[in-house]
Amino acid sequence: MESKKPMFWVMEGGDGAGKSTQIRLLAEFLREKGLAVTVCREPGSTKLGEEIRDILLNRASLTIHRMSELLLFMAARAQVTNEVIRPALARGEVVLADRFVLSSIVYQGYAGGLDIEQLRAIGHIATGGLEPDGTLILDLSVAAAKARRNTPPDRLESEADSFHERVRRGFLSEAARNPDKIHVISAEQPVEMLQQTIRHLTEAIWASSQP
Ligand code: TYD
Repeated sequence: MESKKPMFWVMEGGDGAGKSTQIRLLAEFLREKGLAVTVCREPGSTKLGEEIRDILLNRASLTIHRMSELLLFMAARAQVTNEVIRPALARGEVVLADRFVLSSIVYQGYAGGLDIEQLRAIGHIATGGLEPDGTLILDLSVAAAKARRNTPPDRLESEADSFHERVRRGFLSEAARNPDKIHVISAEQPVEMLQQTIRHLTEAIWASSQP
């Protein structure tokens, strides 16, 4: 994995699947191999994105229509794409993103009821058509995710279990549509084992994408 080929790798999954820990460990592994790695999260990782995150997740008293919610996530996404992701890829770095367009397709579409094909089109506009080289979904049952939560639920975490079931099914349906690019891994295993699986998969995909 010593080449300078840029790579855009996205980690997805329901709430509580452990994405941020796994991204941190994967970034350490890739940096030890000498690669330059940029890590970002959605919504966030820019000043605007963090403000939008606060509006979307922490203001229980705000009424936010599903379409407004979508467009706020997309605005944060346009910002991180242009301010962080594209420049890092242009420098030849590996970008590890905690969520990207697929989260909107699944949360606001499959679970929230917005039109999925419209969401794909809006996602394309927000990102200027940037697509991940690979997406990894950490899959966890809704009950297990709930049991793991140790902080008060944010606005989206407070949605009903049925919403989170639709999120899970949405991720699995999208993976089935595009199995070459979207990989599903069970998150119902210890952190270290999960990280080993993720590292092996990342190395395999890296090797197969080299010219
Ligand atoms: P995240 O910080 O990844 O939460 P967690 O660590 O709990 O998984 O994501 C914030 C929340 O925002 C999460 O509930 C998923 C939701 N979300 C959407 O509904 N649509 C989106 O496009 C994105 C990026 C996130």
